[in-house]
Amino acid sequence: MRRSLVAGNWKMHGSRGANASLVSEILAAGHGDDGPEVLVCPPYPYLWEVGKALKDSGIALGAQDVCAEAVGAHTGEVSAAMLVDVGCTYAIVGHSERRALYAEDDQLVARKFVAAQREGLTPILCVGETLDEREAARTEQVVLRQLDAVIDVAGLDAFGKAVLAYEPVWAIGTGKNATPDQAQEVHSLLRRRLQQENATMSACLRILYGGSVKAANAAELFAMPDVDGGLVGGASLNGEEFRRICEAARQAGA
Ligand code: 13P
Repeated sequence: MRRSLVAGNWKMHGSRGANASLVSEILAAGHGDDGPEVLVCPPYPYLWEVGKALKDSGIALGAQDVCAEAVGAHTGEVSAAMLVDVGCTYAIVGHSERRALYAEDDQLVARKFVAAQREGLTPILCVGETLDEREAARTEQVVLRQLDAVIDVAGLDAFGKAVLAYEPVWAIGTGKNATPDQAQEVHSLLRRRLQQENATMSACLRILYGGSVKAANAAELFAMPDVDGGLVGGASLNGEEFRRICEAARQAGA
């Protein structure tokens, strides 16, 4: 049985003041052990302070990215060990904004995945197609290429300690989410890819859906058999919306 995960990706939003209010709303919602695992991913400068505010709450802390290198002369980068040092247990890798806006290719994403795991972080690997790729019926090819690039470098068993996130690029920040059937189709494809070689691991792997998740659509998305929670952008910046999304995951039988 997979425990679902609801992760808030705050992207490049927030300030110390705004974060304090948001965290107190998240804490007030009282996420218990019986619902989904809850995770927040603030921007780097706020990780330490948000982590301290979340201490002993059971809510996990994650980073939005991680450097592929372990240490050294990499101006502007943040290593996996540093993220662990400030309390992170997760790191998102391969988000489509990093792929598209910061030219991260499949190989770099794979190295980031490995770098995160080497320090004990759980990577959340994002895959997803653009609208052009979907319209050209290339969704399957694209998401499997993105997944296989990481399997080639990290090995299939590495997914025993990872999370996958299907985030169709056309659904991110657009208000136009994938339909539950569209999400299920891709989630099931991803799970079957891993199942071919390790059925037990594949059955335990959590696959999140991301792209315009909100309180109004979370329940129907989380009801799909291979959707194990959400990677939530905009709606995670609103405490009440985020609470209702977590509640939808709980109702779906997290
Ligand atoms: P939105 O929920 O704002 O569409 O963002 C999704 C996302 O990119 C989460 O990583």
